[in-house]
This record gives sequence, C-alpha cells and structure tokens, in this order.
Amino acid sequence: MKGVVLAGGKGSRLRPFTYSGAKQLVPVANIPVLHFPVRQLVDAGITEIALVVGDTEPQIRSAMGDGSVFGARFTYIRQETPLGIAHGLGLCRDFAGAEPVVLYLGDNVLLGGISTFVERFAGSTAQGAVVLKEVEDPRAFGVAVVEHERLKRVVEKPTQPPSNLAVIGVYAFRPEVFEVIAALRPSARGELEIADAINGLINAGLGVEATVTSAYWIDTGKMEDMLSANRAILDTCADATDPAAHLIGGSKRGVAAIASGARLEACELIGPVAIGAGAELRGCRIGPYVAVGSGSHIDGSAIRNSIVMEQSSITACPGLEDSMIGRFTVVERAPAGARLTLGDHSRFEGPA
Ligand code: TTP
Repeated sequence: MKGVVLAGGKGSRLRPFTYSGAKQLVPVANIPVLHFPVRQLVDAGITEIALVVGDTEPQIRSAMGDGSVFGARFTYIRQETPLGIAHGLGLCRDFAGAEPVVLYLGDNVLLGGISTFVERFAGSTAQGAVVLKEVEDPRAFGVAVVEHERLKRVVEKPTQPPSNLAVIGVYAFRPEVFEVIAALRPSARGELEIADAINGLINAGLGVEATVTSAYWIDTGKMEDMLSANRAILDTCADATDPAAHLIGGSKRGVAAIASGARLEACELIGPVAIGAGAELRGCRIGPYVAVGSGSHIDGSAIRNSIVMEQSSITACPGLEDSMIGRFTVVERAPAGARLTLGDHSRFEGPA
C-alpha cells in the first residue's frame, strides 16, 4: 500500500499565515501539522508516500526532505493549480500503479492513528474506504449515508443532513478510483470533488467501506481549529525536560515538554506547555496550553492558550491569550486580555 498526502491548496481560511508559508507547516504543540499524517502512515506500515504540493513546494521540500527522517520515502508531485482534492489524488495515478493508496489531507490530524483503518481496508475487497466522525453540525461537511458499514452516498454540505457522520480527511482507494476521477467534471466551485469520486465508485457498483471513529479529529484549516488542535496535542505530550535545558528558579506544575537549550529564568509554567529548542523566557507565566517555538524570546509576560511560533519576541505583555503569533514576530506591551493573530514578520507595539 502507498500513501498520498495533500499538502497544496489555497489555505485562504488560514491567512495571514498562508501569505508567507504553507498551512501544513503551521505548528501545533511545536510540531508542524504535516508531520502527523506522515508519521501515522509510517506507523501503519506505509513508507512510500507522495506529497502533493503547490506553490509552497520549496518550503515543504526543505521542511520535510526526502522522508528518511520519518522512515519513509517521499515522491513530490506538483499540482500547478489547486483544482480539488480528487484532482490532487488523480495526479498520483502513476505513483500508485497497481497498489491501493491511503489518502490523508495534510492539514488534518486524527489522534490515535490510522493503523486499524488501514488493516481493515487491506483485508477487504472494497474499492474505497472512508473514516467518519460524528459532528454536532454536519451542514459544513460531506455527510455520509451508511447502511451496514457500507457507504451508500456522500452528500456535500447538505441543508438537511441525512446523518451526523462527517467524512473526514482520511480515505483509502484501490486503483479503480483513478478511472472514476478521470471522468469527473468540476463542481460548482470549480474543483474535482473527492465526494464525487466516492459517489462515482458507489454508482459503479464498487463497494466503499465506512469506519466511524471516536478519536479526536480536527481539520486545522481554520484559525480557531489551530488552537484546539494545539490543546489536543499538548494534552498528549509527555512531561520531559531535555538535559540540555536550563530551569533557573520559578515553578512548574502539570506537563511541560522543554526542548534542548531552552532557558527559563523565574518562570511559572502551568502545563500542558511545550517550550521549543533554544527558547529564552524570563519572568513569565506560561500556560496552560501554550506552545513556544524554538529560538523565541519572552520577557515579563503572561500567556495562555496560544501558539507562539519560532524566533518571535514577546515583551511586557501581562495577559496574552487565545493568540497565534507568527515566526519572527515582535510583540511589545500588548494590554492584558489581548488576543492577537499576527502573521510572520509582524510587529505589534502597545503604548509606551
Ligand atoms: P482544503 O482545506 O479543503 O482546501 P484549501 O487548502 O484550498 O483551503 P481553503 O479552503 O482555506 O482555501 O484542503 C485540504 C487539504 O488538501 C490541505 O492540506 C490542502 C490540500 N489540497 C491540495 O493539496 N490540493 C487541492 O487542490 C486542494 C483543494 C486541497
């Protein structure tokens, strides 16, 4: 079996971060989102992986490399225009050859991994398989009609949802899907839809299995979702302080993952928190649910429920919360209660 991870797309809902970078490289708990699909494919025994990339190809290549650090081998496949998820998968026809593929959207995180799903598909004769998740309001999703664990139909963003089971960003297909994709026409929004590919398989009489997951799933495509993904991943982190980190005075309660070379002086850490390599913090209260990227400097500030990306600097902010601070960004004197969303290389200065 081979893997396909979609890491192109427009990323319009994650601006300003997608102005300067790939949305799949935005970190949750200091880990780029794209690592999760790749690691989970490898954990499920799939090491031949195509990364479908768009304009941000150079960044994705330099961040992900050839796959060897993940125990995988990557093939980069360029999608010149983001013409849809089924279009991205369709570009992988030669890569897949005669083998089944697992398709994982590069901005999705399904905690708990995909091994059971992959094993089940490997042992079945179905032509496709989807993972379904119960959601409160299915109207924004592809919604499944299921009978006896077989998918009967996917209805895109229905006003009257036929169930509360959303199709999430993990799928598996046997090669027949490429025939179906080749015959697809663009939808009203001009994309080749994965829902149409799935319905095409079903209409051709080819079975599609449905697995309902109770695991935590999140599509990190929207800003609010990034912070909840950050919280969910921080909740899975182990308490670990690298021997090459320096904790001078201060206090720590709850789980803190502190990386090599980090230096914390007179800081109150309230876990879960993750502090990146070489980050320097002085006189701060950090947490709960804060990730501080590597090489960042934070001085005399209190931060909770936030992502601070690498190489940023935060000074004299007595109560920053629910914030996403981009890379190489400077924040000074933000008032207590400030909620900031600042892209890479931004600058915020409160009154002196
Ligand atoms: P989406 O979040 O559905 O699409 P998008 O990235 O264009 O985002 P937005 O709606 O905010 O503009 O994409 C899901 C994943 O699939 C994501 O990792 C991007 C990727 N993708 C591609 O690689 N090619 C495509 O043509 C599309 C639509 C998405």
